[in-house]
Amino acid sequence: APDIPVANVQAHLNDLQAIATSNSGNRAHGRPGYRASIDFVKAKLDAVGFQTSLQQFTSSGATGWNLIADWPGGDPQNVLMLGGHLDSVTAGPGINDNGTGSAGILEVALTVAREQFQPDKHLRFGWWGAEELGLIGSTFYVNSLAAAEKAKIKAYLNFDMTGSPNPGYFVYSASGQPTGSLEVQQVLESHFTTIGVPTELTQVGGRSDHAAFARAGIATGGLFTGAEVIMTSAQAQKWGGVSGRAFDPCYHRACDTISNINVPALDRNTDAIAHALWTLSGPVAPPGP
Ligand code: PHE
Ligand code: CA
Ligand code: ZN
Ligand code: ZN
Ligand code: ZN
Repeated sequence: APDIPVANVQAHLNDLQAIATSNSGNRAHGRPGYRASIDFVKAKLDAVGFQTSLQQFTSSGATGWNLIADWPGGDPQNVLMLGGHLDSVTAGPGINDNGTGSAGILEVALTVAREQFQPDKHLRFGWWGAEELGLIGSTFYVNSLAAAEKAKIKAYLNFDMTGSPNPGYFVYSASGQPTGSLEVQQVLESHFTTIGVPTELTQVGGRSDHAAFARAGIATGGLFTGAEVIMTSAQAQKWGGVSGRAFDPCYHRACDTISNINVPALDRNTDAIAHALWTLSGPVAPPGP
């Protein structure tokens, strides 16, 4: 898999920060900064050949959108999907939560196009609205799919907070969801093993958009660098962080800005996303003897 230049991901984060700054400081559901964020990501994908669509919904009396992007080609019966939420809370610009996951999958998608990657599976990306109001956009998307369309999605990988300033390296535990995928967990772990960074399994439960896919019976996995929880001393020793401090002290606050990012964590996680996409989009069944 390609090594994603973290500077490209940071450039997207700078753009999302600028969008928030010029729209009352946030990119929240129902606010102009959310619509501007959607338009920004869509334009990047349209320019390189993705088939994009906006899916509109209403929540709390405001219009929201999901952005779905399909990379032409691959087996339409076997879809690999990656996603993350694009909305922030109203309190701030949401750069770690979840500019990081949004920008990471955007840069991986742009890399697919740049390399004209033609995988066996069909690739689809999703940027969800109104996650912060209770997984509204991702739930709307999953509920909009006919049973036959759900069955085509072989796995959904979720990326919500991948550049926390005091980072942990968490992989969603396959046993943390009814449909948690051991294959996805192990592919994500294998990237960190390769680069010599220890990981921990985490039980994300219903706290992010993968849960909407899990409820629909779709295999799930993902990455996370931590939110409001305090880093232990064992974790600080393992990861070189600060014990007694939250993984993200600016979680859901106005200070979740472009300054609230650990660049090596963002780099490693985005490379892990690319590694997982390149690995999992291969043949459906492993080649026989
Ligand atoms: N979904 C949470 C939020 O957006 C963040 C989170 C992600 C928490 C993964 C736990 C695990 O606020
Ligand atoms: Ca990289
Ligand atoms: Zn959040
Ligand atoms: Zn989030
Ligand atoms: Zn790798």
